[in-house]
Amino acid sequence: MSKLKIEGKHILSGEIQISGAKNSAVALLPAAVLAKKKSIIYNVPEISDIKYLIDIMKLLNCEVEHKDGTLYIDSSNLKNKPIPEELSVQMRASYYFMGALLAKFGKVEISFPGGCNIGARPIDIHIKGFEQLGATVDIVKNRYTITADKLKGAKIFFDFPSVGATINIMMAAVGAEGTTIIENAAMEPEIVNVASFLINMGVKIRGAGTKRIEIDGCKDLDNGVCEVFPDRIESGTYIIIGALLGDNLKIKGIIKEHIEALLIKLKEIGVDYEIDNDVMTISKCENLKAVNLKTLVFPGFPTDLQQPLVTLLTQAKGKSLVEETLYENRFKNTYDLNRMGAITNILTMNKLEVKGPKNLKGTHVIATDLRGGASLLIAGLIAAGETEIDNCDVILRGYGNLVEKLSNVGAKLEITE
Ligand code: UD1
Repeated sequence: MSKLKIEGKHILSGEIQISGAKNSAVALLPAAVLAKKKSIIYNVPEISDIKYLIDIMKLLNCEVEHKDGTLYIDSSNLKNKPIPEELSVQMRASYYFMGALLAKFGKVEISFPGGCNIGARPIDIHIKGFEQLGATVDIVKNRYTITADKLKGAKIFFDFPSVGATINIMMAAVGAEGTTIIENAAMEPEIVNVASFLINMGVKIRGAGTKRIEIDGCKDLDNGVCEVFPDRIESGTYIIIGALLGDNLKIKGIIKEHIEALLIKLKEIGVDYEIDNDVMTISKCENLKAVNLKTLVFPGFPTDLQQPLVTLLTQAKGKSLVEETLYENRFKNTYDLNRMGAITNILTMNKLEVKGPKNLKGTHVIATDLRGGASLLIAGLIAAGETEIDNCDVILRGYGNLVEKLSNVGAKLEITE
């Protein structure tokens, strides 16, 4: 098990370049199997989920070359094969092969996806959507076989604006006859990124990024080219680090509109920054103030930044109240934060109180999930002494070149086996 060792309290200056978004990239790869033959995806992050997705694509007989952040995919000889559990459980995004292969072949066999253990994370909205398009879904012991002689466009109303279901149904709808309308669709930037890739392949999609998306079925797709948007969650994490330790730290690759909820919350906390085009300059801020925070779907405050922000709130004066509305198990990081000297109390399953400011001290902690691990990483960077984070591989799932990016701006950290 890999360990991340951090020597805390180093001031950070220089530049950090934000990578392509994990949650876009992991959907764009499966979407590439819909292309006529070839796809090019630029700005692909260096994270382990991508490696596992490439393994699945190779299993499906795609040729994949990963060079300098660009993926060249040739799906000319694509074959529909069952995706084994050992690959599908490696990440959440394996479920995107459901929509993509269903559209392409009218059949897909795959096990329940993996991903961070932050709640139950059912996929009933995806399944209901496939069925409304005319597919039959058989589930035997977590193994899904989804078949359709013919997919037919339908009007689908989501009970909840799920990111995964919106992308999955958008892809399945490409293989349907006629128009599919998704109502109460998710509006996250990842949806727009995937829709623009499909549009580039010749699919007619209207409304991606709004609550209503229309997709016209398309049999004759072209090759596809797209660029992964910069990662809004990675951006947010480095911004929080900058607010705690920066000395004119520059964060490059910011899309302001994608992180508006965070930026407004930071102002409320008392964090100062400047944005010039896509570059943010940020320095360590004093006199941070406690705030109340509620996670919501986009454009609300993203659940993936809740745990990193909690670490910032341990340094804010007063009592903050954090409400997590997306997942029922996303405060696990607070156990170790408290061991480092923070004072947080879980009031109910989805409400957390944070009292600050508290000086943190380094100790031995365990990353239980990706963003919870990021929260401990931030804690380690501001703590006195040395912090050792066990199971740090889960953090690297979402932060490409983490050690290199932070070392380049003056942090002291290393990964040991
Ligand atoms: C994606 C992101 C994840 C992020 C989340 C919310 C990827 C690979 N992961 O996850 O980082 O935290 O969006 O922004 O992109 N739900 C159901 N039934 C379903 C689908 C979802 O009840 O069929 C519930 C989930 O349990 C959760 C909520 O809806 O409580 C949000 O899920 P969803 O938007 O689907 O998130 P993911 O696609 O899993």
